[in-house]
Amino acid sequence: MAEQSLRVNLGQRSYDIAVTADALRDVGVFAHARSQGKNAVIITDENARVHGQAVHTSLAAAGFRVAIVIRVAGESQKSLESAGQLYDVLIDLPADRRTLVVAVGGGVIGDLAGFVAATYARGLPLLMVPTTLLAMVDSSVGGKVGVNHPRAKNMIGAFHQPIGVFIDVATLDTLPEREFHSGLAEVVKYGVILDAGFFEYLEKNVDAILKREPTAIQHIVLRSCALKAKIVEQDEREETDIRAKLNYGHTFAHAFEIAGGYGAWLHGEAVSAGMVCASRLAERRGLIEREVSERQIRLLKAFSLPTSPLRWPHDEMLATMRKDKKAVGGQMRFVLPTRLGDVALFDNVPEADVRAVLQH
Ligand SMILES: NC(=O)c1ccc[n+]([C@@H]2O[C@H](COP(=O)([O-])OP(=O)(O)OC[C@H]3O[C@@H](n4cnc5c(N)ncnc54)[C@H](O)[C@@H]3O)[C@@H](O)[C@H]2O)c1
Ligand SMILES: [Zn+2]
Repeated sequence: MAEQSLRVNLGQRSYDIAVTADALRDVGVFAHARSQGKNAVIITDENARVHGQAVHTSLAAAGFRVAIVIRVAGESQKSLESAGQLYDVLIDLPADRRTLVVAVGGGVIGDLAGFVAATYARGLPLLMVPTTLLAMVDSSVGGKVGVNHPRAKNMIGAFHQPIGVFIDVATLDTLPEREFHSGLAEVVKYGVILDAGFFEYLEKNVDAILKREPTAIQHIVLRSCALKAKIVEQDEREETDIRAKLNYGHTFAHAFEIAGGYGAWLHGEAVSAGMVCASRLAERRGLIEREVSERQIRLLKAFSLPTSPLRWPHDEMLATMRKDKKAVGGQMRFVLPTRLGDVALFDNVPEADVRAVLQH
């Protein structure tokens, strides 16, 4: 399949998302058409470095003077300390206001490089080249960038839209199976919250998706980006309840991630079990039929994802959920499905119901 693209419409901050298969060599032309600068700084990590180097070659061929920074992999990179080290690199170059920051990697690199781009010299242009499924369908679209505070994940950040997102699904060939499956949880989420037809497509194409057939992967990445873009266009800075829809399954997921000490599960795995809990909660509230949950469970299982929490203490998980940023005045708020393809935000969910769905 040839390159496909879609536009995120945000007035002056609008940008294109190109979804290609095996076309990283074209990223230089894509960048050149959107940048006034001559210098580019690629930020990548050791696991994505082959892709970083391919981007380097392509940007140089398009006329950029290119520097590349290869960080160690992992969430610990999302810190003010590593942002500080990247500011040092930019000062040394030196970077100017037109220097293009190019993030080549997963959500960690995107969030970190994006944060540096948002803050250095009050904002440098940013190009996202996501290389994990999660980054392709979620973190590289929408402009949220940031680093962690030692006591609060993603607490220090900004909204900084990229000038473009260039996706090559062939970069997923090197992604470990577990990371790939984890990203699929967010893909399933888009079907449940916004698009029943897309959910059906996933059900019918499990084999092609698991084999990472480029046509299927290109389709699910493009559709996921389109669905997220539509939400971001309506609520760029998360000021209404619209963008909160994207948090389906996430109130539970955060509680699972904290209960497991962030080591037990990958984010998508926690989201998978979180979506099932939220769906069960919707059943208990009489919002949906049992079959809506069962279909999610079947699909998530087909993608080798967990569908219930491990045996973590319920009190601890409830305490986390009460502190969730979506909780208002100690009342838990949940995004719950009202049918396949639609969700709404509910306040005042009784604690007894929440406890009940944590049960296996
Ligand atoms: N900004 C947002 O809107 C947003 C949304 C969702 C998640 N996030 C953030 O994204 C981060 C998670 O992103 P992630 O799941 O991509 O994690 P990640 O960036 O840590 O990538 C996962 C692993 O895959 C490796 N990797 C990346 N590309 C690879 C490739 N092509 N081949 C082989 N290995 C590769 C990485 O080095 C890492 O070890 C979290 O920090 C989360 O907070 C941000
Ligand atoms: Zn998520």
